[in-house]
Amino acid sequence: VSRALFVTASGTGIGKTLVACALAHQARVAGRAVRVLKPVATGFDEMNLGESDTVNLLTAVGQDVTETTIVACTPWRFTAPLAPDMAAAREGRVIDFGAVLAHCRAALGEDHLTIIEGVGGTMVPLGGQETVRDLIAELEVPAVLVAGSYLGAISHALTALESLTTRNIPVRAIVISESAAAPVPLAETCAAIARLTDVPLVALPRLAPATHPWQVAPSLAAVFAPG
Ligand SMILES: Nc1ncnc2c1ncn2[C@@H]1O[C@H](COP(=O)(O)OP(=O)(O)OP(=O)(O)O)[C@@H](O)[C@H]1O
Ligand SMILES: [Mg+2]
Repeated sequence: VSRALFVTASGTGIGKTLVACALAHQARVAGRAVRVLKPVATGFDEMNLGESDTVNLLTAVGQDVTETTIVACTPWRFTAPLAPDMAAAREGRVIDFGAVLAHCRAALGEDHLTIIEGVGGTMVPLGGQETVRDLIAELEVPAVLVAGSYLGAISHALTALESLTTRNIPVRAIVISESAAAPVPLAETCAAIARLTDVPLVALPRLAPATHPWQVAPSLAAVFAPG
């Protein structure tokens, strides 16, 4: 059983928050204490908190949404909907990778599961020379890779996977979150990827629009399984 999972993706807007919320929700239902982190967020609209990844994650673990919990979950919040280093630059700030790493480390513990959502894909710059991949590697936590089923998604998924495995980051599972405009059945995309990797694949079908779609997501138990 993992004490932490880092939810990353082949790109932005693929389903990391949905998967992180579903994992958090399902772990809680199974009786585990869960902490959520989205250390760096861009496109963060303080006037529209309900739409933020941060508030969705806090809601999925039943935490109150207060200034304190928002800041603890997401210390690095930037307004511009850009890559983190660019969004920070718009505000005259720089992201201190070491500080992000330290904040994530401090949230890890033996008595709870920590679910960390990355930002964008695996190779998104976090400031300086570091990327999200470096954060995962330095944290020494297993990754869950979320990918889509749009045209081109197979190569994106395998490329992202390669970027993790070349740094010896254990990948617990690849979750294929069905894209809105998928040219083939979800199972066909999963089968194509399964032929090229031994990493367990989890199919997440397109869910009907809902306030909290993570509540109705099918079981992602395979992500928690050891191996
Ligand atoms: N399988 C799915 N069924 C229905 N909706 C989905 C599915 N996967 C993703 N979505 C929707 O697509 C949108 C983008 O997903 P999500 O916010 O989880 O992506 P993300 O990877 O966290 O994006 P970001 O890079 O901005 O953090 C959301 O509205 C989400 O609910
Ligand atoms: Mg997200």
